[in-house]
Amino acid sequence: MPIAATISGKTFTPHLEVQGNCSLSGELKVSGAKNSALVLMAASLLTEDELILENVPNLTDIEGMREILSTLGVKIKHEKNRIQIQAIGLHHVALPYELVHVLRASFFCIGPLLARLGQAKIPLPGGCEIGARPVTEHIKGLKALGAFINFEHGVVTASVPGTRKRLRGAHVVLDCPSVGATETILMAAVLAEGRSSIENAAQEPEIQDLANLLNRMGAKVSGAGGPKITIEGVTKLRGCHYTVMPDRIEAGTFLIAAAITRSFLHISPIIPEHLSAVLQKLRDCGCNILINKDTIEINPGEIKGVDITTQPYPGFPTDLQAPFMALMATAKGTSVITEKIYENRMQHVAELQRMGASIRLQGNTAVVEGVARLSAAPVHGGDLRSAAAMILASLSANGISKVEGLNHLDRGYSSIEKKLNQAGANILRY
Ligand code: UD1
Repeated sequence: MPIAATISGKTFTPHLEVQGNCSLSGELKVSGAKNSALVLMAASLLTEDELILENVPNLTDIEGMREILSTLGVKIKHEKNRIQIQAIGLHHVALPYELVHVLRASFFCIGPLLARLGQAKIPLPGGCEIGARPVTEHIKGLKALGAFINFEHGVVTASVPGTRKRLRGAHVVLDCPSVGATETILMAAVLAEGRSSIENAAQEPEIQDLANLLNRMGAKVSGAGGPKITIEGVTKLRGCHYTVMPDRIEAGTFLIAAAITRSFLHISPIIPEHLSAVLQKLRDCGCNILINKDTIEINPGEIKGVDITTQPYPGFPTDLQAPFMALMATAKGTSVITEKIYENRMQHVAELQRMGASIRLQGNTAVVEGVARLSAAPVHGGDLRSAAAMILASLSANGISKVEGLNHLDRGYSSIEKKLNQAGANILRY
Protein backbone atom coordinates (compact mmCIF):
# COMPACT_ATOMS: atom_id res chain seq x y z
CA MET A 1 0.00 0.00 0.00
CA PRO A 2 1.42 3.42 -0.94
CA ILE A 3 1.99 5.89 1.91
CA ALA A 4 0.21 8.63 -0.01
CA ALA A 5 -1.34 8.96 -3.45
CA THR A 6 -2.53 11.91 -5.51
CA ILE A 7 -6.19 11.77 -6.50
CA SER A 8 -7.69 14.63 -8.58
CA GLY A 9 -4.72 16.82 -7.67
CA LYS A 10 -5.15 16.26 -3.93
CA THR A 11 -2.81 14.20 -1.79
CA PHE A 12 -4.62 11.24 -0.29
CA THR A 13 -3.18 9.21 2.57
CA PRO A 14 -4.75 5.81 3.20
CA HIS A 15 -6.31 5.83 6.65
CA LEU A 16 -8.88 4.30 8.95
CA GLU A 17 -11.81 6.12 10.49
CA VAL A 18 -12.39 4.61 13.89
CA GLN A 19 -15.62 5.20 15.81
CA GLY A 20 -14.89 5.69 19.48
CA ASN A 21 -16.82 4.76 22.65
CA CYS A 22 -16.80 1.27 21.24
CA SER A 23 -17.93 -1.88 22.99
CA LEU A 24 -16.71 -5.23 21.67
CA SER A 25 -18.19 -8.70 22.16
CA GLY A 26 -17.83 -12.25 20.93
CA GLU A 27 -14.57 -13.73 19.68
CA LEU A 28 -11.44 -12.42 18.00
CA LYS A 29 -9.44 -14.89 15.91
CA VAL A 30 -5.66 -14.78 15.99
CA SER A 31 -3.68 -15.40 12.79
CA GLY A 32 -0.35 -17.21 12.41
CA ALA A 33 2.71 -15.45 13.83
CA LYS A 34 4.30 -12.95 11.44
CA ASN A 35 7.75 -13.16 13.02
CA SER A 36 7.71 -16.97 12.88
CA ALA A 37 6.36 -17.21 9.35
CA LEU A 38 9.05 -14.86 8.01
CA VAL A 39 11.94 -16.87 9.41
CA LEU A 40 10.34 -20.22 8.51
CA MET A 41 10.06 -19.01 4.92
CA ALA A 42 13.78 -18.17 4.95
CA ALA A 43 14.51 -21.65 6.35
CA SER A 44 13.03 -23.11 3.14
CA LEU A 45 16.35 -22.15 1.50
CA LEU A 46 18.01 -24.94 3.49
CA THR A 47 16.58 -27.77 1.38
CA GLU A 48 15.78 -28.44 -2.25
CA ASP A 49 12.68 -30.36 -1.20
CA GLU A 50 9.28 -28.75 -0.90
CA LEU A 51 8.28 -27.08 2.34
CA ILE A 52 4.59 -26.52 3.01
CA LEU A 53 3.71 -23.91 5.62
CA GLU A 54 0.14 -23.64 6.93
CA ASN A 55 -1.42 -20.80 8.95
CA VAL A 56 0.70 -18.15 7.23
CA PRO A 57 -0.85 -14.71 7.85
CA ASN A 58 -1.78 -12.47 4.91
CA LEU A 59 0.51 -9.50 5.44
CA THR A 60 2.59 -7.18 3.33
CA ASP A 61 5.73 -8.43 5.14
CA ILE A 62 4.93 -11.97 3.98
CA GLU A 63 4.46 -10.70 0.42
CA GLY A 64 7.85 -9.00 0.77
CA MET A 65 9.51 -12.25 1.83
CA ARG A 66 7.83 -14.07 -1.09
CA GLU A 67 9.29 -11.51 -3.45
CA ILE A 68 12.74 -11.92 -1.91
CA LEU A 69 12.65 -15.71 -2.21
CA SER A 70 11.42 -15.43 -5.81
CA THR A 71 14.37 -13.14 -6.60
CA LEU A 72 16.66 -15.92 -5.42
CA GLY A 73 14.95 -18.36 -7.80
CA VAL A 74 12.73 -20.16 -5.30
CA LYS A 75 9.41 -21.60 -6.56
CA ILE A 76 6.49 -20.40 -4.45
CA LYS A 77 2.76 -21.08 -4.49
CA HIS A 78 0.61 -19.10 -2.08
CA GLU A 79 -3.04 -19.93 -1.52
CA LYS A 80 -4.96 -18.39 1.36
CA ASN A 81 -2.90 -19.28 4.43
CA ARG A 82 -0.77 -21.99 2.87
CA ILE A 83 2.57 -21.43 1.18
CA GLN A 84 4.39 -24.12 -0.79
CA ILE A 85 8.05 -23.29 -1.24
CA GLN A 86 10.73 -25.17 -3.14
CA ALA A 87 14.25 -23.81 -3.21
CA ILE A 88 15.48 -25.90 -6.11
CA GLY A 89 17.83 -24.48 -8.75
CA LEU A 90 18.66 -21.32 -6.79
CA HIS A 91 20.14 -18.95 -9.34
CA HIS A 92 21.06 -16.03 -7.10
CA VAL A 93 22.93 -15.51 -3.86
CA ALA A 94 22.52 -11.72 -3.86
CA LEU A 95 19.60 -9.56 -2.74
CA PRO A 96 18.90 -6.04 -3.98
CA TYR A 97 18.93 -3.15 -1.48
CA GLU A 98 15.38 -2.06 -2.40
CA LEU A 99 13.95 -5.35 -1.10
CA VAL A 100 16.12 -5.63 2.02
CA HIS A 101 15.44 -2.01 2.93
CA VAL A 102 11.68 -2.60 2.87
CA LEU A 103 11.84 -5.85 4.84
CA ARG A 104 14.59 -6.12 7.47
CA ALA A 105 13.71 -9.79 8.00
CA SER A 106 15.15 -10.52 4.55
CA PHE A 107 18.56 -10.44 6.25
CA PHE A 108 17.52 -13.87 7.61
CA CYS A 109 18.42 -15.31 4.21
CA ILE A 110 22.15 -14.87 4.89
CA GLY A 111 22.43 -17.92 7.20
CA PRO A 112 20.58 -20.43 4.97
CA LEU A 113 22.29 -19.18 1.79
CA LEU A 114 25.71 -19.58 3.36
CA ALA A 115 24.86 -23.02 4.74
CA ARG A 116 23.41 -24.31 1.50
CA LEU A 117 25.44 -22.56 -1.23
CA GLY A 118 28.52 -21.33 0.60
CA GLN A 119 27.93 -17.70 -0.34
CA ALA A 120 25.56 -14.78 0.15
CA LYS A 121 25.55 -11.10 -0.69
CA ILE A 122 23.04 -9.04 1.26
CA PRO A 123 22.87 -5.28 1.84
CA LEU A 124 23.03 -4.23 5.48
CA PRO A 125 19.42 -3.56 6.50
CA GLY A 126 20.27 -0.35 8.44
CA GLY A 127 18.15 1.22 11.16
CA CYS A 128 14.40 1.72 11.18
CA GLU A 129 11.75 3.87 12.89
CA ILE A 130 12.40 2.35 16.32
CA GLY A 131 16.19 2.13 16.52
CA ALA A 132 19.58 1.51 14.94
CA ARG A 133 19.15 -2.28 14.96
CA PRO A 134 22.71 -3.46 14.26
CA VAL A 135 23.46 -6.98 12.97
CA THR A 136 26.87 -7.34 14.62
CA GLU A 137 25.82 -10.43 16.58
CA HIS A 138 24.61 -12.19 13.42
CA ILE A 139 27.96 -11.46 11.76
CA LYS A 140 29.94 -12.53 14.81
CA GLY A 141 28.16 -15.89 14.84
CA LEU A 142 28.65 -16.51 11.12
CA LYS A 143 32.37 -15.70 11.43
CA ALA A 144 32.68 -18.16 14.32
CA LEU A 145 31.15 -20.81 12.03
CA GLY A 146 33.99 -20.19 9.58
CA ALA A 147 32.46 -17.68 7.15
CA PHE A 148 34.57 -14.93 5.56
CA ILE A 149 32.72 -11.66 5.83
CA ASN A 150 33.46 -8.51 3.92
CA PHE A 151 31.63 -5.16 4.05
CA GLU A 152 31.75 -2.86 1.06
CA HIS A 153 29.41 -0.13 -0.16
CA GLY A 154 26.82 -1.12 2.44
CA VAL A 155 26.73 -4.75 1.36
CA VAL A 156 27.76 -7.82 3.36
CA THR A 157 29.50 -10.40 1.22
CA ALA A 158 29.78 -13.72 3.04
CA SER A 159 31.47 -16.87 1.80
CA VAL A 160 32.65 -20.21 3.10
CA PRO A 161 36.31 -20.88 2.27
CA GLY A 162 37.60 -24.22 1.00
CA THR A 163 36.38 -26.57 -1.70
CA ARG A 164 33.67 -28.25 0.37
CA LYS A 165 31.95 -24.94 1.09
CA ARG A 166 30.73 -26.24 4.43
CA LEU A 167 30.57 -24.19 7.61
CA ARG A 168 32.06 -25.81 10.71
CA GLY A 169 30.45 -26.11 14.12
CA ALA A 170 31.43 -23.53 16.75
CA HIS A 171 30.58 -22.29 20.22
CA VAL A 172 28.98 -18.84 19.99
CA VAL A 173 28.28 -16.63 23.00
CA LEU A 174 25.97 -13.73 22.15
CA ASP A 175 26.59 -10.35 23.83
CA CYS A 176 22.82 -9.76 23.85
CA PRO A 177 20.05 -12.35 23.31
CA SER A 178 19.14 -11.10 19.83
CA VAL A 179 16.19 -12.92 18.27
CA GLY A 180 17.43 -12.37 14.71
CA ALA A 181 21.04 -13.33 15.50
CA THR A 182 19.93 -16.53 17.25
CA GLU A 183 17.81 -17.44 14.21
CA THR A 184 20.57 -16.62 11.71
CA ILE A 185 23.19 -18.65 13.57
CA LEU A 186 20.79 -21.54 14.13
CA MET A 187 19.92 -21.76 10.43
CA ALA A 188 23.60 -21.58 9.46
CA ALA A 189 24.67 -24.20 12.01
CA VAL A 190 22.16 -26.94 11.11
CA LEU A 191 24.12 -27.85 7.96
CA ALA A 192 27.58 -27.17 9.45
CA GLU A 193 30.14 -29.87 10.10
CA GLY A 194 30.10 -30.97 13.75
CA ARG A 195 28.51 -29.54 16.86
CA SER A 196 27.58 -25.89 17.48
CA SER A 197 26.17 -24.16 20.50
CA ILE A 198 24.63 -20.74 21.05
CA GLU A 199 24.91 -19.33 24.54
CA ASN A 200 22.86 -16.36 25.78
CA ALA A 201 20.45 -17.31 22.97
CA ALA A 202 17.13 -15.51 22.61
CA GLN A 203 14.35 -17.52 24.27
CA GLU A 204 11.39 -16.11 22.32
CA PRO A 205 8.75 -18.65 21.21
CA GLU A 206 9.63 -17.86 17.57
CA ILE A 207 13.02 -19.53 18.18
CA GLN A 208 11.26 -22.68 19.34
CA ASP A 209 8.98 -22.59 16.32
CA LEU A 210 12.03 -22.37 14.05
CA ALA A 211 13.83 -25.20 15.89
CA ASN A 212 10.68 -27.36 15.66
CA LEU A 213 10.52 -26.80 11.91
CA LEU A 214 14.24 -27.49 11.46
CA ASN A 215 13.98 -30.72 13.47
CA ARG A 216 11.00 -31.75 11.35
CA MET A 217 13.27 -31.18 8.32
CA GLY A 218 15.87 -33.56 9.80
CA ALA A 219 18.05 -31.15 11.80
CA LYS A 220 19.32 -31.99 15.29
CA VAL A 221 18.59 -28.98 17.47
CA SER A 222 18.06 -29.15 21.23
CA GLY A 223 17.57 -26.57 23.96
CA ALA A 224 15.66 -24.01 21.84
CA GLY A 225 13.50 -21.86 24.10
CA GLY A 226 16.25 -21.84 26.73
CA PRO A 227 19.46 -19.80 26.98
CA LYS A 228 21.69 -22.47 25.42
CA ILE A 229 20.94 -24.14 22.11
CA THR A 230 22.94 -27.10 20.84
CA ILE A 231 23.05 -28.11 17.18
CA GLU A 232 24.55 -31.29 15.74
CA GLY A 233 25.22 -30.51 12.09
CA VAL A 234 23.70 -32.79 9.41
CA THR A 235 24.60 -32.98 5.71
CA LYS A 236 21.13 -32.58 4.26
CA LEU A 237 17.65 -31.44 5.23
CA ARG A 238 14.35 -32.60 3.75
CA GLY A 239 11.01 -30.93 3.10
CA CYS A 240 8.05 -31.13 5.47
CA HIS A 241 4.58 -29.85 6.26
CA TYR A 242 4.45 -27.39 9.18
CA THR A 243 1.87 -25.14 10.84
CA VAL A 244 3.00 -21.69 11.99
CA MET A 245 2.23 -21.00 15.67
CA PRO A 246 -0.36 -18.34 16.61
CA ASP A 247 0.78 -14.72 16.79
CA ARG A 248 1.32 -13.84 20.45
CA ILE A 249 1.65 -10.13 19.65
CA GLU A 250 -1.62 -9.99 17.71
CA ALA A 251 -3.27 -11.94 20.57
CA GLY A 252 -1.84 -9.43 23.07
CA THR A 253 -3.13 -6.53 20.96
CA PHE A 254 -6.63 -8.06 21.03
CA LEU A 255 -6.47 -8.60 24.80
CA ILE A 256 -5.59 -4.93 25.21
CA ALA A 257 -8.44 -4.04 22.81
CA ALA A 258 -10.81 -5.82 25.21
CA ALA A 259 -9.31 -4.06 28.22
CA ILE A 260 -9.33 -0.56 26.71
CA THR A 261 -12.96 -0.87 25.58
CA ARG A 262 -13.87 -2.58 28.88
CA SER A 263 -15.35 -5.44 26.83
CA PHE A 264 -15.82 -9.14 27.56
CA LEU A 265 -14.12 -11.10 24.77
CA HIS A 266 -12.88 -14.54 23.77
CA ILE A 267 -9.55 -14.64 21.98
CA SER A 268 -8.22 -17.76 20.22
CA PRO A 269 -6.17 -19.64 19.22
CA ILE A 270 -3.36 -18.76 21.58
CA ILE A 271 -0.58 -20.59 23.40
CA PRO A 272 -1.17 -19.21 26.91
CA GLU A 273 2.45 -19.59 28.14
CA HIS A 274 3.60 -17.29 25.31
CA LEU A 275 1.62 -14.49 26.93
CA SER A 276 2.43 -15.04 30.63
CA ALA A 277 3.99 -11.61 31.26
CA VAL A 278 1.20 -9.80 29.41
CA LEU A 279 -1.58 -11.76 31.14
CA GLN A 280 0.01 -11.02 34.53
CA LYS A 281 0.01 -7.27 33.82
CA LEU A 282 -3.58 -7.40 32.57
CA ARG A 283 -4.60 -9.20 35.77
CA ASP A 284 -2.64 -6.66 37.86
CA CYS A 285 -4.45 -3.76 36.23
CA GLY A 286 -7.91 -5.22 36.87
CA CYS A 287 -8.83 -7.75 34.17
CA ASN A 288 -10.29 -11.14 34.99
CA ILE A 289 -8.70 -13.73 32.77
CA LEU A 290 -9.78 -17.32 32.24
CA ILE A 291 -7.75 -19.72 30.14
CA ASN A 292 -9.41 -22.71 28.54
CA LYS A 293 -6.94 -24.68 26.40
CA ASP A 294 -6.18 -22.38 23.45
CA THR A 295 -8.78 -19.72 24.29
CA ILE A 296 -8.51 -16.75 26.62
CA GLU A 297 -11.62 -15.18 28.08
CA ILE A 298 -10.99 -11.62 29.25
CA ASN A 299 -13.41 -9.65 31.40
CA PRO A 300 -12.04 -6.25 32.39
CA GLY A 301 -13.07 -4.57 35.64
CA GLU A 302 -12.01 -1.06 36.60
CA ILE A 303 -8.58 -0.56 35.00
CA LYS A 304 -5.88 0.88 37.24
CA GLY A 305 -2.33 1.98 36.45
CA VAL A 306 0.46 -0.61 36.59
CA ASP A 307 4.14 -0.24 35.72
CA ILE A 308 5.79 -2.14 32.87
CA THR A 309 9.37 -2.52 31.69
CA THR A 310 10.02 -4.22 28.37
CA GLN A 311 12.46 -7.15 28.48
CA PRO A 312 13.52 -10.06 26.28
CA TYR A 313 11.18 -13.07 26.55
CA PRO A 314 9.78 -14.21 28.98
CA GLY A 315 9.59 -10.54 30.06
CA PHE A 316 7.01 -8.03 28.83
CA PRO A 317 7.43 -7.76 25.02
CA THR A 318 8.55 -4.47 23.50
CA ASP A 319 6.08 -5.09 20.67
CA LEU A 320 3.17 -4.58 23.10
CA GLN A 321 4.60 -1.52 24.86
CA ALA A 322 2.75 1.03 22.67
CA PRO A 323 -0.63 -0.78 22.84
CA PHE A 324 -0.27 -1.15 26.63
CA MET A 325 0.53 2.55 26.97
CA ALA A 326 -2.73 3.36 25.17
CA LEU A 327 -4.53 1.26 27.81
CA MET A 328 -2.69 2.95 30.68
CA ALA A 329 -3.68 6.35 29.26
CA THR A 330 -7.27 5.40 30.18
CA ALA A 331 -6.50 3.78 33.56
CA LYS A 332 -7.18 5.07 37.06
CA GLY A 333 -3.92 6.32 38.56
CA THR A 334 -0.33 6.43 37.42
CA SER A 335 1.80 3.97 35.50
CA VAL A 336 5.49 4.07 34.65
CA ILE A 337 6.39 2.49 31.31
CA THR A 338 10.05 1.86 30.50
CA GLU A 339 11.33 0.77 27.10
CA LYS A 340 14.54 -1.26 27.43
CA ILE A 341 14.87 -2.97 24.03
CA TYR A 342 14.82 -0.13 21.50
CA GLU A 343 16.25 3.35 21.84
CA ASN A 344 13.55 5.14 19.84
CA ARG A 345 10.24 3.44 20.55
CA MET A 346 8.23 6.24 22.09
CA GLN A 347 6.82 8.08 19.03
CA HIS A 348 3.29 7.11 20.01
CA VAL A 349 3.56 9.30 23.13
CA ALA A 350 3.07 12.53 21.15
CA GLU A 351 0.13 11.02 19.28
CA LEU A 352 -1.55 9.81 22.48
CA GLN A 353 -1.01 13.27 23.96
CA ARG A 354 -2.88 14.70 20.98
CA MET A 355 -5.81 12.49 22.02
CA GLY A 356 -5.74 14.02 25.49
CA ALA A 357 -3.48 11.51 27.25
CA SER A 358 -1.45 12.85 30.15
CA ILE A 359 2.08 11.50 29.63
CA ARG A 360 5.47 12.82 30.73
CA LEU A 361 8.38 11.42 28.78
CA GLN A 362 11.85 11.23 30.33
CA GLY A 363 14.17 9.49 27.91
CA ASN A 364 12.78 6.01 27.44
CA THR A 365 10.48 6.18 30.44
CA ALA A 366 6.91 7.44 30.18
CA VAL A 367 4.93 8.43 33.24
CA VAL A 368 1.27 8.06 32.36
CA GLU A 369 -1.54 9.62 34.42
CA GLY A 370 -4.77 7.99 33.29
CA VAL A 371 -7.62 10.25 32.15
CA ALA A 372 -11.34 9.48 32.25
CA ARG A 373 -11.70 9.64 28.43
CA LEU A 374 -9.42 10.20 25.48
CA SER A 375 -10.79 12.38 22.69
CA ALA A 376 -10.72 11.53 19.00
CA ALA A 377 -8.05 13.16 16.83
CA PRO A 378 -6.25 12.59 13.53
CA VAL A 379 -3.26 10.45 14.53
CA HIS A 380 -0.38 8.69 12.84
CA GLY A 381 1.18 5.33 13.67
CA GLY A 382 4.89 5.80 13.01
CA ASP A 383 5.72 2.10 13.26
CA LEU A 384 3.79 -1.16 13.19
CA ARG A 385 2.89 -1.39 16.88
CA SER A 386 2.28 2.36 17.28
CA ALA A 387 -0.27 2.10 14.49
CA ALA A 388 -2.06 -0.67 16.43
CA ALA A 389 -1.91 1.45 19.59
CA MET A 390 -3.59 4.32 17.72
CA ILE A 391 -6.49 2.04 16.74
CA LEU A 392 -6.91 0.86 20.34
CA ALA A 393 -6.84 4.41 21.72
CA SER A 394 -9.34 5.49 19.04
CA LEU A 395 -11.76 2.66 19.90
CA SER A 396 -12.05 3.98 23.44
CA ALA A 397 -12.00 7.74 22.69
CA ASN A 398 -14.92 10.15 22.37
CA GLY A 399 -15.64 10.73 18.66
CA ILE A 400 -14.26 9.49 15.34
CA SER A 401 -10.48 9.32 14.92
CA LYS A 402 -8.54 9.24 11.68
CA VAL A 403 -5.62 6.81 11.92
CA GLU A 404 -2.79 7.02 9.39
CA GLY A 405 0.26 4.79 9.07
CA LEU A 406 -1.49 1.86 7.36
CA ASN A 407 1.70 1.00 5.47
CA HIS A 408 3.10 0.03 8.89
CA LEU A 409 -0.12 -1.56 10.18
CA ASP A 410 -0.58 -3.87 7.19
CA ARG A 411 2.93 -5.26 7.67
CA GLY A 412 1.86 -7.08 10.80
CA TYR A 413 -1.92 -7.25 11.31
CA SER A 414 -4.05 -9.37 9.00
CA SER A 415 -7.45 -7.70 8.31
CA ILE A 416 -7.42 -6.01 11.71
CA GLU A 417 -10.38 -3.73 11.00
CA LYS A 418 -12.44 -6.65 9.62
CA LYS A 419 -11.73 -8.71 12.72
CA LEU A 420 -12.56 -5.85 15.10
CA ASN A 421 -15.70 -4.94 13.11
CA GLN A 422 -16.96 -8.52 13.42
CA ALA A 423 -16.67 -8.06 17.19
CA GLY A 424 -18.72 -4.84 17.11
CA ALA A 425 -16.25 -2.07 16.17
CA ASN A 426 -17.04 0.48 13.49
CA ILE A 427 -13.88 1.06 11.48
CA LEU A 428 -13.80 2.16 7.85
CA ARG A 429 -10.78 2.04 5.56
CA TYR A 430 -10.21 4.82 3.02
C1 UD1 B 1 12.68 -9.38 16.53
C2 UD1 B 1 11.27 -9.16 16.07
C3 UD1 B 1 10.73 -7.82 16.57
C4 UD1 B 1 10.92 -7.69 18.08
C5 UD1 B 1 12.35 -8.01 18.49
C6 UD1 B 1 12.55 -8.01 19.99
C7 UD1 B 1 11.29 -10.36 13.95
C8 UD1 B 1 11.16 -10.29 12.47
N1 UD1 B 1 11.24 -9.20 14.62
O1 UD1 B 1 13.48 -8.38 15.91
O2 UD1 B 1 9.35 -7.74 16.26
O3 UD1 B 1 10.62 -6.35 18.46
O4 UD1 B 1 12.75 -9.29 17.97
O5 UD1 B 1 11.68 -8.89 20.59
O6 UD1 B 1 11.36 -11.42 14.52
N2 UD1 B 1 20.94 -5.92 18.87
C9 UD1 B 1 22.27 -5.57 18.95
N3 UD1 B 1 23.16 -6.22 18.14
C10 UD1 B 1 22.76 -7.18 17.24
C11 UD1 B 1 21.40 -7.54 17.18
C12 UD1 B 1 20.51 -6.89 18.02
O7 UD1 B 1 22.65 -4.71 19.73
O8 UD1 B 1 23.61 -7.71 16.52
C13 UD1 B 1 19.95 -5.20 19.72
C14 UD1 B 1 18.92 -4.44 18.85
O9 UD1 B 1 19.43 -3.19 18.44
C15 UD1 B 1 17.77 -4.31 19.80
C16 UD1 B 1 17.85 -5.60 20.62
O10 UD1 B 1 19.17 -6.11 20.44
O11 UD1 B 1 17.96 -3.19 20.64
C17 UD1 B 1 16.84 -6.65 20.22
O12 UD1 B 1 17.03 -6.93 18.85
P1 UD1 B 1 16.71 -8.36 18.21
O13 UD1 B 1 16.34 -9.32 19.30
O14 UD1 B 1 17.82 -8.72 17.30
O15 UD1 B 1 15.41 -8.03 17.37
P2 UD1 B 1 15.07 -8.50 15.90
O16 UD1 B 1 15.45 -9.91 15.71
O17 UD1 B 1 15.56 -7.49 14.92
